[in-house]
Parts: sequence; structure tokens; C-alpha cells
Amino acid sequence: MSHKRVAILISGGGSNMVALLDSMVGDHPARPCLVLSNDEHAGGLKKAAERGVATAWVDHRPFKGDRAAFEAELIKPILAAEPDIVCLAGFMRVLTGDFVSQFQGRMLNIHPSLLPKYKGLNTHARALEAGDAEHGCSVHEVTAALDDGPILGQARVPVLEGDTPDTLAARVLTQEHRLYPAVLRRFAEKNSTPVHLG
Ligand code: GRF
Repeated sequence: MSHKRVAILISGGGSNMVALLDSMVGDHPARPCLVLSNDEHAGGLKKAAERGVATAWVDHRPFKGDRAAFEAELIKPILAAEPDIVCLAGFMRVLTGDFVSQFQGRMLNIHPSLLPKYKGLNTHARALEAGDAEHGCSVHEVTAALDDGPILGQARVPVLEGDTPDTLAARVLTQEHRLYPAVLRRFAEKNSTPVHLG
């Protein structure tokens, strides 16, 4: 059985990417084929290279907000790697509908909230502000609308007395590292049963 090929897009440290790489071993039906960043200095690129995974980067800044021009470059290493699945993991650039449509139904993203709550940024501060008793993270299929698309799994954490955005983010991140690998495996096995943790 040939493995599903997985490309992972990152912008920073890539802790979710590392969790995904470390999960794709043994009888897992997928293997990584590329780790790609919009930042040449993203810490995750080194971690991927250390694990023997091909890496590439395309700096978004020279394109000065011309998303289509940036994406016309970004797509090149992805197409060269011939992925079956594309995972966004801490990838902090908004992708256009045209780009996403090329991977419709096979692009995943992890978002640090219990979607559909708190799409966008600063999710932990917003959950604290709202006085939510629980918070968490979601993995969803990527569609043209930001942080939208079918939810494939969620993990819940309690909000604790005295939590700050940082303490809550750290608690959620630990669950992200459990949730994303679990969802990717089911997705690669074409098992559409949602993953619910916590
Ligand atoms: C984290 O805030 C995580 O919640 C979100 O992206 C950020 C960086 O994640 N998914 P990573 O460590 O680069 O995977």
C-alpha cells in the first residue's frame, strides 16, 4: 500500500507540524512529503529538516499584500511535492478562495477555538473575556471562508481560575498536539467519524 503524501504549511515554531511528523510512522497510512513556510526563519523548518523531511519557504513580504502573486509562488513547491493532503499548522497567512479551491476536500487546518466560536485571532483572550467555562481547538476542512468548513475533530479544555491568555493557550496547544494527529490519521484512512477529545 502506498502512503498518502502530506504537505504541511507553517509560519513559526511548528509544534503542531512536529506532532504530525512524529505520528506518521509505522502502520500510519500517510507520510510527510514537504514542510513549507512563509518565513525563511521559521523554527519549524529546522525541526522538519532534522527529521529528514523536505522543506521550502516562500517569503510573503516581497509581495506586499498581493495575495495572488504570493500564492503563485507558494503553490510551486506544493505541486512539486505532489501531496494528497495539505495540512495548515500554525500557518498565519490568509489564503484566497482560488488557492484553497485547488485543494478542496483535502486541505485541513487547526484553529485554537471550539469552532464555530471565535474565528480569527486572539481566541484565548476572547474566550476569557466571554467568561467561557471551557475552550479548546478544532480541526476543520479548509474552505474559502476563513476558519469555516466541516469540523473533523475538537478537543476541549477547562478554563481555570486565574487563567491568562498564555496559560489557556498552553493548555489548548497540548490538546492540539493530540487532536491534529488523530484527525489526520482518520482523514488519511477516509474515516469520517469526528474526533472528540477532552
Ligand atoms: C498556536 O497558537 C496554535 O494554537 C495555532 O498556531 C499557533 C502556532 O502553532 N494552531 P505551532 O506551534 O506553530 O504549530
